[in-house]
Amino acid sequence: MTSFRTELASPQPGRGSLPARAHLRSDAPHQPLDGTWQVRRHPGGAWSEIRVPGHLPLQGHGAPIYANVRFPFPVDPPFPPDDNPVHDHRLEFEADPAVLAHPSVLRFEGVDGAATVWLNDVELGTLRGSRLTTEFDTTGVLRDGVNVLDVRLAQWSAHSYLEDQDMWWMPGIFRSVTLLARPEGGIRDVFVHASYDHRDGSGTLRVDVDSDAVVTVGVPALGRDDLGAGESHHFRSVDPWTAENPMLYAVRVHTPAEVVTLRVGFRTVHVADATLMLNGRPLLLRGVNRHEHHPLHGRAVDLETARAELLLMKKHNINAVRTSHYPPQASFLDLTDELGLYVMVENDLETHGFEPNGWRGNPSDDPQWRDAYIDRMRRTVERDKNHASVLFWSLGNEAGTGANLDAIAQWAKRRDPSRLVHYEGDRRSLHVDVYSRMYADTAEVARIGAFTEPEDEHRRTLPFLLCEYAHAMGNGPGGLSEYQELFHRWPRLAGGFIWEWVEHALHGGTTADGRTIQLYGGDFGERVHDGSFVIDGLVHADRTPGPGLADVARVFAPVELTIDASASTLTIVNRYHSLGLSHLDAGFPLPHVPAGATVTVPLQLRSAPPPGADGAVAVPPDLPLTVSLRDRDQGHEVAWAQYVPPRPPVSLRATAVPSDDLRLGPAVFDPGTGMPVRLGDLDLHDVAVSLWRAPTENDRGRGWEEHDLPSMADRWAAAHLDDLRTRLIDVTVDGAALVVRTRSGPPVIDAGVDVTWRWTSDGEALALDLTIEPYGQWPCEWARAGIDLRLDRPTSQVTWTGWGPGPQYPDTGQGARYGDFTADRDTYAERTVRPQEHGARRIDDAFIDVGGIGLRVRGVDVPLTVRPWSRQTVAATAHDHELPAATSTWISVDAAASGVGTASCGPGVLPAYRLAPSVQRLRVVLQQPIRELPAATSSYQSVSEPSP
Ligand code: GAL
Repeated sequence: MTSFRTELASPQPGRGSLPARAHLRSDAPHQPLDGTWQVRRHPGGAWSEIRVPGHLPLQGHGAPIYANVRFPFPVDPPFPPDDNPVHDHRLEFEADPAVLAHPSVLRFEGVDGAATVWLNDVELGTLRGSRLTTEFDTTGVLRDGVNVLDVRLAQWSAHSYLEDQDMWWMPGIFRSVTLLARPEGGIRDVFVHASYDHRDGSGTLRVDVDSDAVVTVGVPALGRDDLGAGESHHFRSVDPWTAENPMLYAVRVHTPAEVVTLRVGFRTVHVADATLMLNGRPLLLRGVNRHEHHPLHGRAVDLETARAELLLMKKHNINAVRTSHYPPQASFLDLTDELGLYVMVENDLETHGFEPNGWRGNPSDDPQWRDAYIDRMRRTVERDKNHASVLFWSLGNEAGTGANLDAIAQWAKRRDPSRLVHYEGDRRSLHVDVYSRMYADTAEVARIGAFTEPEDEHRRTLPFLLCEYAHAMGNGPGGLSEYQELFHRWPRLAGGFIWEWVEHALHGGTTADGRTIQLYGGDFGERVHDGSFVIDGLVHADRTPGPGLADVARVFAPVELTIDASASTLTIVNRYHSLGLSHLDAGFPLPHVPAGATVTVPLQLRSAPPPGADGAVAVPPDLPLTVSLRDRDQGHEVAWAQYVPPRPPVSLRATAVPSDDLRLGPAVFDPGTGMPVRLGDLDLHDVAVSLWRAPTENDRGRGWEEHDLPSMADRWAAAHLDDLRTRLIDVTVDGAALVVRTRSGPPVIDAGVDVTWRWTSDGEALALDLTIEPYGQWPCEWARAGIDLRLDRPTSQVTWTGWGPGPQYPDTGQGARYGDFTADRDTYAERTVRPQEHGARRIDDAFIDVGGIGLRVRGVDVPLTVRPWSRQTVAATAHDHELPAATSTWISVDAAASGVGTASCGPGVLPAYRLAPSVQRLRVVLQQPIRELPAATSSYQSVSEPSP
């Protein structure tokens, strides 16, 4: 035990393993060792069962810890703390005779923590590098009959200092364990070099093979089965690999003893004129950062889940993945090759916890860690070097700077000159092939794109990418379009990777009323933790999309469509890397638009009001028009555009007259407050003007551009924005209008708003013309400006004509389109793991159903929020499942709202989307019908679906 403990403090790489090599598909026998193992706490625990692959804390052994940057133990490198859970794992198994017939290898694909491995009491060596493959030679140790495999695993070691990624600390054998037969005269390693020459369409293939036998290489689809290993072969014509057309050629590498099969893509990635190029054409990365996460199984993500994830990405126009912040399970890259996604494979390396200590003692610049750095980079590159989809090697994430990083950059370039080296932390981009940043704001990105930023000569030769941007935490990300416009404008900008794909919530069971409990940092009693900061993905932990995903799909669309209704034209910009549009179905013949080209055509309506002589018709100016392009094979929508004509304000003939006892049409007003308390059969409660929202995660963050200021949420709190007090000034009758004047302001300060409520009615509905005017010196911007009211019963669903199906804030909702929608209460409210403001839809006409009767709300583009809790409750509740059961309905109708930005990590709300105290006006018509609206008139036409 002493030596086990002592060795945990060694910064050296693991020992005893075989040299790193590619993860190959071979016909040699193999034996999976996944399944039920035995586990016990060391020393002295009792054996119980555990599932491998899996994490200990998710199977009852210890608890997960979520910490982002800070180490949850003293920063005392290379020493781990003594308080260090150690578990023994044991598997007894019968060796497969087919494996036993040859020399053999035991492969661990991922063991989180630091371990020592024994087979039949023979020590094979140690495991370091949690997300990296290790192989041990088991020849002569593996025996006939029952074998005993022991893995003693400690949670903490010297290597924990290199594995400080922003995710759960969860020890365990979390990836597969396999025994592999290694036949004599077989193939130890293969390195495929397959490039494409765009000038003549030719391909060059060289397959380096590590074998003692005579090797032949076959590429049946190119008519060759007799190529020699290590020699370059020129093929006059090949189909290149791109994410858009992931053309793979089967390559068979064989010796008399073994056949290895690879799927090879010919492609060339390089930099020219500070532009990222693939196969001779500029490449734009529309990417996401992907951690491996499953709400039940942590980083043990099965391949079916991974495939479904990648298909979901493709469906939403995502074309690139950064494997933040470690190599993914090996087979993931088979999927990206096959389905077509560009990949940045990142080394398993992050030392971020040294930053809060001024980077003192950072392993990146300390020679005693050099071998460990080289070892990690080597294992990353060697395992994944044969994948067409991998365009970049990333040295790691947030590991500061230092000679060890420089060394692994050099190593990677030497070993694989065909790919680009990435590391965001290289402040001068000296050792990398791309200039990379995270969360730079659009103003700076624009300067970088335009080369107007002061930069040295070297950096000016590099393309730029955002390895992280658009922090998708809670309600957001705001401001995606502004980045994309820059990516399209400046060739130097190669796009980037949104932070992040999937939320890391852990499943905590179900509540009595059937709600899923989703847990985050601090929920496991951690003393050092970062709360909900791990819940920041475009899709939830169970992979159901959050609303940001539809926005991403729209903003990332590889075809840009613009309808000019007055000219009856459609402009099509093909932003694919190299595809034409023939794979897309528009419902009408699409013109020929090669990649990179722009074509304007008359709008061709297939079945619509009278076609013109040439088949083109004028767009009726009063009907919305949608053009939609779908992928013929996959069926999903790739791009769309909509023209929504201007709609006049809702008209209402003010025929009712206010009575002395403050009744107007269907409404009754309270003389004490001047507010309506009844509308038809509905009691209205708490009608008031409001300037606050339940802070989003982004409102709680400090925008990087104003980092010295408090967060928006704190500014609102300091101004008591959530606590407006109202004084009735007067109630007067102006013709058919009941005019109520109020003044509302927060306690403590001498600023507020003067509000005029002008009510009219036609006897059935109630119109409100509201004016909000600030007075005094406002110390902060507003979250929103509108009215709140409460109904004393819960809503079941909301039906609306307007924008949907997802929510919209001024800088989000690019994925929302005009139409008719229905959503149940939860869907409308847009629930998030940590409750926050969400769910506003811009509506023209909505019906809020509260059981047979309901509230109809009409306006033009009016933000409408509906949910069964007050904002105070939302803001004060830490987890969705803790929200109380629905008994009432809180409704807000806004004149204006602030954008959401990405200040949870990155820039705040762009100036154009902020809400400075200013005069705001709202016209809205309220009505209490006893039934649902008739399904909204199909005032909705589309060129892909003929109108009736
Ligand atoms: C970045 C980091 C990510 C993640 C993100 C915030 O700095 O690289 O791992 O922590 O911030 O969610």
